Amino acid sequence: MKKEINGKTKIIGIIGKNIENSLSPLIHNQIILKHSLNFCYLPFQVAETNLGKAIQGIKALNIRGVNITFPYKEKVIKFLDEVEESARRIGAVNTIVNNKGILTGYNTDVIGFKKSLQEDGKFFTKKKKAVILGAGGAARAVVYSILEEGIKEVCIFNRTLEKAKKIEQDFSSFFPGSSIYVFPLEEECLKDKIEEAYLLVNATSLGMPPKIDNTPLPDKRLFHPNLLVYDLIYHPARTLFLRQAERAEAKIINGLPMLVYQGIESFYLWTGFKPEGKEVLEMIKRIT
Ligand SMILES: NC(=O)c1ccc[n+]([C@@H]2O[C@H](COP(=O)([O-])OP(=O)(O)OC[C@H]3O[C@@H](n4cnc5c(N)ncnc54)[C@H](OP(=O)(O)O)[C@@H]3O)[C@@H](O)[C@H]2O)c1
Repeated sequence: MKKEINGKTKIIGIIGKNIENSLSPLIHNQIILKHSLNFCYLPFQVAETNLGKAIQGIKALNIRGVNITFPYKEKVIKFLDEVEESARRIGAVNTIVNNKGILTGYNTDVIGFKKSLQEDGKFFTKKKKAVILGAGGAARAVVYSILEEGIKEVCIFNRTLEKAKKIEQDFSSFFPGSSIYVFPLEEECLKDKIEEAYLLVNATSLGMPPKIDNTPLPDKRLFHPNLLVYDLIYHPARTLFLRQAERAEAKIINGLPMLVYQGIESFYLWTGFKPEGKEVLEMIKRIT
């Protein structure tokens, strides 16, 4: 097991705002230790006004690559040299790879979300309906994932309707066999749409610290036992949203499996090494 940092150690890391509770440094450094790889994963807390300089710093400091997290997944794109096809379509980047000074953006959230549904939710989206709460960078990846899987209908509810409309405009031509509907978060039809849905996802940041008692769905009567309820938040492990869903006997998943699976894909892009997903997930569950 390699423990020391030396002159050949390659730096990877995460850029975000309020990342004190991020589990990504733990996940990546555990993989590095377990497999004796000469990498080190560091947290970079960056204010929005410094985002451009921080991205340039990746080149200047010869950092191998970084994850990009809340709230910069969309904002970071304009600072990159290249953006991989699906990340460009999604309009959100969560991984940057530095290849000899060329910064390329990827989106591994899509594969992370899909894998977590397949392996942990045992959920197959074809012919089913989904309700997504939120329309930020993470929501875009979630919606893209389930459309790629061939879901029949996606309803997006967001506080800022324009952002939900933008998803509908950007994605509908790529997925002509599926329907995308958008509504404001407070819209009355939310009740009916949840009633018909099989999958309900919280892709808003409501429930994240410090306001952990916030929820995008204050009316707990809307949860039902036929729902698979997914919260992208993993800290706290059980948000109010998930606790209320559980009480209504819905099946629940938090954001940890997605975080682990997207992290493994990012790790592979930087190092060429891909650890076994379930093994990493079990290891992280044991130590958190
Ligand atoms: N588990 C994972 O691997 C994973 C991966 C990615 C993201 N996430 C989590 O997903 C969440 C969203 O991340 P993101 O990158 O998409 O962030 P983002 O781009 O900033 O989007 C935030 C979303 O939350 C909504 N929102 C924020 N405050 C709100 C409020 N007071 N009332 C109603 N809606 C509100 C925003 O609505 P407006 O559009 O109206 O502002 C937007 O839809 C975060 O909690 C993040 O940690 C988890």
